[in-house]
Amino acid sequence: MTKRNLIADALRLKTERKALILAHNYQLPEVHAVADVIGDSLELALAAQKATEPILVLCGVRFMAETALILNPDRMVLMPEPDAGCPLADFLTPDVILSTKAQYPDAAVVVYINSTAACKAVADSVCTSGNAVRIVKSLPHRQIIFGPDTNLASYVQSVLPDKEIIPIPEGGHCYVHMQFDPADLTEVKSSGIQIIAHPECPPQIRAHADHIASTGKMAEIAKTGSSWYICTEVGMLDRLGELCPDQTFVGNENALCADMKKTTLQELVVCLRDLTGQVQVPQEIMEGARKSLEYMLQVP
Ligand code: 13P
Ligand code: SF4
Repeated sequence: MTKRNLIADALRLKTERKALILAHNYQLPEVHAVADVIGDSLELALAAQKATEPILVLCGVRFMAETALILNPDRMVLMPEPDAGCPLADFLTPDVILSTKAQYPDAAVVVYINSTAACKAVADSVCTSGNAVRIVKSLPHRQIIFGPDTNLASYVQSVLPDKEIIPIPEGGHCYVHMQFDPADLTEVKSSGIQIIAHPECPPQIRAHADHIASTGKMAEIAKTGSSWYICTEVGMLDRLGELCPDQTFVGNENALCADMKKTTLQELVVCLRDLTGQVQVPQEIMEGARKSLEYMLQVP
């Protein structure tokens, strides 16, 4: 079947099913073509919270679909590709959080949204790349246990020196954001191109950046210049090209998230047609995870 036919089928089935399609910025352009909401993790969580449709289809990775379900427990949440996970999220377990908490009883626990529902259930708050600084600042605690991304933890620490960020587990990172080379960035800068880096990049990459931003904020920043080097997943170059047709974007083809690319238009059509890939979160962790997400969502 051609891409055009698949897009037509997906749009027809979406209307018939009264489904809302939410897609992360890194998804393929043809998935974006049929999505109702395209955004970063915070924008997708906010859209899921406000959704009124009986079926939510999450084109992204598992923690995003789990978040949509936790915020809408009475809806059907589907993932066209249920195997799409996030290796960064898999770094952290509730046991590690609880044992660190026993060591630092006065600390609050903030988990990055790129974490399992079970980790969210034992945290005080969730955060995203777009609001991590705001969330940590909002908590009265000086010590903050923070995981699983040690790079985002070090970014938050650099912005909030009065807090003591305790990163867990050791070495938690996203392999996609480790693909950038400081030497390339020095060359990019000397040719007059500005750099935007995602906070999941390591400190030696962030040090070269003109701006550090979530994927949702990148387009807004890009409109203030003409040529940009983007240190995040390569799919963001297509997304920024759609949003900012007057700007040029370059990046690194090796910075590819295999899980984000698992969702195809074909699978989306099958998912809408057969209602496959229903996401489940065990009842006993739903409430705790919802509390942590709701804390995050009420912080201005
Ligand atoms: P954003 O919320 O900035 O889109 O980041 C999500 C993510 O998984 C980055 O790799
Ligand atoms: Fe996870 Fe990294 Fe992929 Fe984002 S890019 S979903 S953090 S593996």
